[in-house]
Parts: sequence; structure tokens; C-alpha cells
Amino acid sequence: MSIRMCVIGCGWIVQSNHGPALRILAQRGEVELAACCDLNSEYAQKVKNDFGFARTDTDLDVMLDRERPDAVLVAVPPEVACAIGKRVLSRGLPTLLEKPPADTLEGLDSMIALAKEKQVIHQVAFNRRFAPILVELRRRLVAAGPVHCLQGWMMRSNRRDPDFSTTAIHLIDAVRFVLNDEYRSLNLRYQTWSSAGSPVTNFSIEGVMASGTMLQICICPDCGMQAEGFMARCAGRTFETEISPIGHEFQNYGLLREWSQTKPVETVSGKDLSGREEQFVGYGMLGQMASFLQSVKQRSQPAMSLQNARRSLELMLALRARSATFG
Ligand SMILES: NC(=O)c1ccc[n+]([C@@H]2O[C@H](COP(=O)([O-])OP(=O)(O)OC[C@H]3O[C@@H](n4cnc5c(N)ncnc54)[C@H](O)[C@@H]3O)[C@@H](O)[C@H]2O)c1
Repeated sequence: MSIRMCVIGCGWIVQSNHGPALRILAQRGEVELAACCDLNSEYAQKVKNDFGFARTDTDLDVMLDRERPDAVLVAVPPEVACAIGKRVLSRGLPTLLEKPPADTLEGLDSMIALAKEKQVIHQVAFNRRFAPILVELRRRLVAAGPVHCLQGWMMRSNRRDPDFSTTAIHLIDAVRFVLNDEYRSLNLRYQTWSSAGSPVTNFSIEGVMASGTMLQICICPDCGMQAEGFMARCAGRTFETEISPIGHEFQNYGLLREWSQTKPVETVSGKDLSGREEQFVGYGMLGQMASFLQSVKQRSQPAMSLQNARRSLELMLALRARSATFG
């Protein structure tokens, strides 16, 4: 049985990541691309043409009334994500919600209450939880642990968004995922500088996880390279990972390298793990969508629920508010 899917919001993330993932899954017969909608009809038309949706709309209610889909993807800007997410959840439709699902904790809590009331299957799109390299890192850390120290980085080029916290939330959540642990207490530091006249803020997060792992995170939105990954230090071993570096021999699909006795002892690429080279696969977009569709088919609630996303949103909001401490 294939799941009939509708998409709300046909902007960058759908055109570059969800669309290609959905096209692959449609070719495998796992999803039927019923309709996509955007306030901008040209975007909706482009996504229909590029990925094979049957119909387009500019009004989400018109689309959902007509299509009666089995599942919906909400990929709209963070400012309206909560309001639109609630319009879909209130219909009882299984929903994949782009991150952050809400812009405030009050908004998130109202979504949690609504999802509980309607008993609706939902998933927050923290796609790094499906990135082949990070899934493998988490698996290896279970065997190699405890992790004494986790260092993480998120490096970008020319990102001058007024609020980079909505992207930083990916790394914030990935820390919780790879360590299977929660934040205990953190010191947060900021460095704001001017890039071509726009303020850019670097974030430093240092502290300790509930299990005692020492944490050091650095996030630089405009530093001339794109990289994102972790160094996980265990007794006598280090696991070095890059999810999806640009301009690297492992471009797009990433690598995991294990070190011991000062030598690299094993290197695995994301291509070895997933059998594919595309960047949206390296970032976990294909695995995420496949997993969500499977949950809808099996009528089982995914682990990455709105409730589970709460701690990640809390830290994102602390960064946005330039808080000095967390936890
Ligand atoms: N998972 C990731 O790696 C990742 C990366 C980038 C963005 N995102 C998230 O995805 C979401 C969308 O980001 P984007 O970069 O695609 O933004 P975007 O601005 O390019 O696209 C959003 C689209 O939503 C449409 N929209 C707004 N209100 C709508 C409504 N009521 N009905 C239908 N369409 C509506 C807009 O017209 C726009 O085309 C954001 O929440 C963002 O945080 C996730």
C-alpha cells in the first residue's frame, strides 16, 4: 500500500531535499504524490513538474479537503509553522513537521496537547537522526562508550540570516541523538561581527551532558566552508565524522573514521553505508521520509515526537535570546 501524500510549502527545502527524496520513494511505490501547495503558485507548479505531484493548490484547506491524504509534510517558514502545523494536526492527519515545529515553547506545548487530543501520528524533521554517518556513529558509540568528550561543529559560508538558531537546532538535536543523552548544564557564548554589513553571530556551547560527557560545540555561519560533524573521544579511541562536507573527497555523503594508537584504523563513507552519493541522502532526508512513511503505514508513533523535540527547541530559544547558561 502506498501512502497518499500532500506537501504544504514548496520552497527551498522541498525543491532541494524533500522533493528528490519523495521522487525516489514514489518510484519505489512507497508514496503517491497527490498534491503540493504554496501561496506562490509558481513554486507549487515547479515542485509538481520536478517531482511528479498530480495536482497543485495555493490554499492548503482546499487541497486537504479534496485530497484526503494519508500523510502531510509541512515545510513553511518558522514564523507560521506552528499555526499551519496545528491546522493539519487538528484534522487528525499524520504529519511530518519541518524544524522548528514552533517558534515558542507555548506554541510547541499547544501542538503537543493537540497531537495528544487527536492521537495523531507526527514526526519532527530532525533529519540528522537519519544521516547514515550519524546513525553509524551512534551505533559504534554504544559499543565503544562511555564517550568522555564530544566536540561538534557546524560551519557554513555566506549565511547571514538574522537568526541562525533555526539552523543551529540541527546540531543541538544531533548531540542528543548521537549520545542518546540529554543536556545537563551548559555555558553559552556569542561573538557577533559584521559580514558585508550584516551582523553574523558565532555560537560556542560548552558544558556537560547528563551522563557526564564533556561537550564543546562551535557554530560559525559565515566562515568560508561547509562542514558539520563530531569528534567523539572515548578511552583510547576517537571517532571522527563529517556528515556531508563540501569540497572534500567525501563530498555530499560524508565519512566516519576511527582512530586508535595515533593511527586511523578504519574509514567508512556515507556511500558505503547508504549505497548513494546524493547530499540529501547524506543529510538523512531520504531515510527520514522512508521512516515516516513506514510509521504511517504501521500506525506507530515515531520517536522524534513534538514532546521529544522540546529540549532541542529550548536550547535553540536560549541561543536566540543570547542566554549565558542553559540547564
Ligand atoms: N531540515 C533541514 O535541513 C532544513 C533546511 C532548511 C530549511 N528547513 C526548514 O524548512 C522550512 C521551510 O524552509 P525553506 O528554506 O524551504 O523556506 P522557503 O521560504 O524557501 O519556503 C517556504 C515556503 O512556504 C510557503 N508558505 C508559507 N505559508 C504558506 C501557506 N499558508 N500555505 C502554503 N505555503 C506557504 C512560502 O510561500 C514559501 O514558498 C522552515 O521551517 C525551515 O526551518 C529545514
